Amino acid sequence: MAKVTYNERSWAIDVITEINLYIHNKSWHFKGAGGESTIKNDSKSLFPDVLLFKDQLKNIILQGWELKMPDTAINDAELISNAIKKAKILKRESFILWNVKSAVLYNRVDENFQILKTWDDIEINNRSEVKPNENLWKVFLHQILEDLNAFFEDGDIKDVTTSEILSIDEIIDIVLENTEETAENIKSKLRTNSRLEAKINRWWLVSANEYGQKYTDKTHLIPTLSMVILTDWIFKIVFANILKRHFNEAKRIEEINYETSLNEAIDIIVSISENCNFWNIFSPNLAQELISNNAWIQIIELNQFLSNIDINEIDIEILQELLQNSVASAKRKVAGQFATPKILADLLTRLTISDKSKIVIDPCCGTGTIIKQAFRLKEEYEINQDEILNSIWASDKHSFPIQLSTLSLTKPEIFGKILNVFNSDVIDLETKKTIEFRNPNNGEIVNKDFPLVDYVVSNLPFIKSKEIKELNENIPKINTWISEQLEREVSLSGKSDIFAYIPFYIHQFLSENGKIGLILSNAWLGTDYGETFLEIFQEFYKIEYVVISGRGKWFDNADVVTTLLIAEKKIPNTETNISHKIYFCTIKQKLEEIEDVKFLSEQIILGESTDLIKINAYSLNEINFFEEIGMPWSAYFSDLYWLADVSEKLTNTNLIFDFTRGERRGWNPLFYPAQGHNIEEDYIKPVLKHLRDTTNLECIANKEAFCCSKSIDELEVLNHNGTIAWIRSFENQRNGTNKPLPEVLAKPNMFWYEMKTENMADFVANVNFHNSLFIAKFQNRSFIDQRMIGFSIKDDYLEENKDLLLALLNSTLSMFLIESFGFGRGLGALDLRATKFERDFKILNPNLLSENEKIRIVENFEPIKNRVRQPLERELEMEDRINFENILMEIYGIQEHYEQIKSALLQLFRIRFAVKDE
Ligand SMILES: C[S@@+](CC[C@H](N)C(=O)[O-])C[C@H]1O[C@@H](n2cnc3c(N)ncnc32)[C@H](O)[C@@H]1O
Repeated sequence: MAKVTYNERSWAIDVITEINLYIHNKSWHFKGAGGESTIKNDSKSLFPDVLLFKDQLKNIILQGWELKMPDTAINDAELISNAIKKAKILKRESFILWNVKSAVLYNRVDENFQILKTWDDIEINNRSEVKPNENLWKVFLHQILEDLNAFFEDGDIKDVTTSEILSIDEIIDIVLENTEETAENIKSKLRTNSRLEAKINRWWLVSANEYGQKYTDKTHLIPTLSMVILTDWIFKIVFANILKRHFNEAKRIEEINYETSLNEAIDIIVSISENCNFWNIFSPNLAQELISNNAWIQIIELNQFLSNIDINEIDIEILQELLQNSVASAKRKVAGQFATPKILADLLTRLTISDKSKIVIDPCCGTGTIIKQAFRLKEEYEINQDEILNSIWASDKHSFPIQLSTLSLTKPEIFGKILNVFNSDVIDLETKKTIEFRNPNNGEIVNKDFPLVDYVVSNLPFIKSKEIKELNENIPKINTWISEQLEREVSLSGKSDIFAYIPFYIHQFLSENGKIGLILSNAWLGTDYGETFLEIFQEFYKIEYVVISGRGKWFDNADVVTTLLIAEKKIPNTETNISHKIYFCTIKQKLEEIEDVKFLSEQIILGESTDLIKINAYSLNEINFFEEIGMPWSAYFSDLYWLADVSEKLTNTNLIFDFTRGERRGWNPLFYPAQGHNIEEDYIKPVLKHLRDTTNLECIANKEAFCCSKSIDELEVLNHNGTIAWIRSFENQRNGTNKPLPEVLAKPNMFWYEMKTENMADFVANVNFHNSLFIAKFQNRSFIDQRMIGFSIKDDYLEENKDLLLALLNSTLSMFLIESFGFGRGLGALDLRATKFERDFKILNPNLLSENEKIRIVENFEPIKNRVRQPLERELEMEDRINFENILMEIYGIQEHYEQIKSALLQLFRIRFAVKDE
């Protein structure tokens, strides 16, 4: 027979028994002790070894004790930190550490735990002495209990301050400490199971995005999956224990104990779910059986703890809070950045849902923030619970989001009723399609027809065109439907992000005059594909509001800036009244500082600008005019009323200049030779690599480029041996994929070593401006490298004074146009839309000027040209700048608009920087 040792666990059970005996019949502050069922000989356990209860029923925990054998020092750092963790899990104010020999009482003071009492040691020095000296430690225990009771009675230790059962946040933290071990388990399984590996890779392909990761980056795959399955177990356990209150079948959860294997537990959970509607929550998760041993023990411990609580005695609100806290915590820790901020969800639903009694869906519901807000909005208008349940729908392509959404909509009072939350790709949703749910009361299948929906509110997934091919290859098929509806061939650009396609799928299940409220990236306001999207979108929808942030970022995601777009369905090929106004709204407060979202939404609905929000309302008629002169939508968040007067003074820059772009030739060492190259001068041209060193408005080429359009034979005839040697030195080189350079660099009608010398530029603009907007003049015509746009003067204008052109290119009005032709990225940089810029960028028309006027402009621009450029806000306030602008505007007869142009420029500039962390 194995030797039975007297260990912590056996001692703890004796301690619990002794406490219960000693306090029996005493009317003390604590009425009983317990905790036997969760005790494990493991330092990573979640709960204290001994629990003192305030009530006879043992439902209200007053204090936890951590027990050790004498070989663990009472001031052992790990012992103390574990005990603190456990006190936090239980949300209690004090705890006791006892290693048989010594005992210490800790009490919470503000955020920290401090020693309140230390008892004198007793003479038990090792574990073998514990059982034989039972009487000694029992007397010691009685003393501790006496003192403890006095502390509670006198109020030295605070009584229970919260009725919460436990802090699920702390539990999730501790269980997630097993992520690495769980990941190891999964990895070792993959060695022998290709099918599992294939499934996991498939899961990553479709889900990486939702955890803020790139599916190409496999380093996060297994750790993320591990976190998902660990939290998934917590949900299942917590939820099943709460469900016990409503469904007898859920009591089976209590069968899971230290003897239960993971697979047996999965079976028990599946069997519970067969009898209720919560398949979304209980269905087995990929690799769920692979959590680490330690994690499994903690999960069982959690289950034992919850099983011991008489759930019927717990206030329903407390259970609801437990449920919601689990969701909130998992959202933060696992789902990370894809959850929509609640305030944004609140604003979106208020702006979209006019009739609160109608049907709402979020077809990409994620963690359910938006649909939950819709639920709350209906409650606010006192729609009864059954009607709300019938009119709220949510779906998502993936199961973890569905699980979170179901949990976040669930509350004890609606147990037993069907929640319309289900798995579906948004492109498969179709009115009248049968959706399967389960009757929670008897587990029977209930089929519902997917309805005609009145409102769609959603934060669409961020999936770029490149990823669409792998993740959603069918989505572009909508182009056929669009063309059919419009009775002409049209197509969204192949470069579109996924958000551009989804509204057209939604259109098909939206009721007449139904509305959509979408959260999407700002790309639709500032890309070429966005322009196509917008054009087609307006055939299917009448836009009501576009909302952007004028202060702070709405999402943590580094390179996406988001907008709200709210629009009403219209029948394709019907005209919208041209006096219909679209409201372009800039929120001037940080999201988290908005105190009254309802008030804010009402301001938007009424179109009133205030301290909180700036609203520019433009009619379709006005927008048509803006579009005709090439003004991009990103400019509509500023006041543009001056534009009509000013537009006739403008001319398109492409009438004066040809545009050139830096050529990408792909082998820098060949085309940008380092010093000492020996190439004949004829083939060396100046090139501007970047504008970083250009501090004023004039630039000089800062590199040499090798540009030779002669054949080797011609070079030989000319005796240009340096050049021949240069070319030959690359002839046998290979690129990274081991291909010879002459093959890699081959281009039609060109030598492989050739870079064209045409397209030399006179002026140059950056493709990525930061806080200084300018177009610089070359001292000598030069080449430009990539990421810049060159302007070369057309023959007709070669006689024109270049400084005049420089002045016109750098007026405040031009800066406004530059700013509006870009769109802000997450970090505040301006991405100039090169093609749009070249098509529509305008300057004040030099042809309208007399010679004298030209001279005045040049003279007054001189001081600006000769000094260092300033960051935009300072630049606009420089004395020479103000003087120049006044004269320029006066000459063109638009002086009355000077301040308006300047302030419009500043508005757009500040919006771009609003997303930068302060
Ligand atoms: C930005 S998240 C939504 C966030 C959500 N509002 C929240 O607060 O958690 C986008 C969601 O779209 C889902 N999704 C991606 N592609 C989808 C598709 N084709 N059909 C339906 N849902 C999809 C993702 O699973 C993800 O949950």
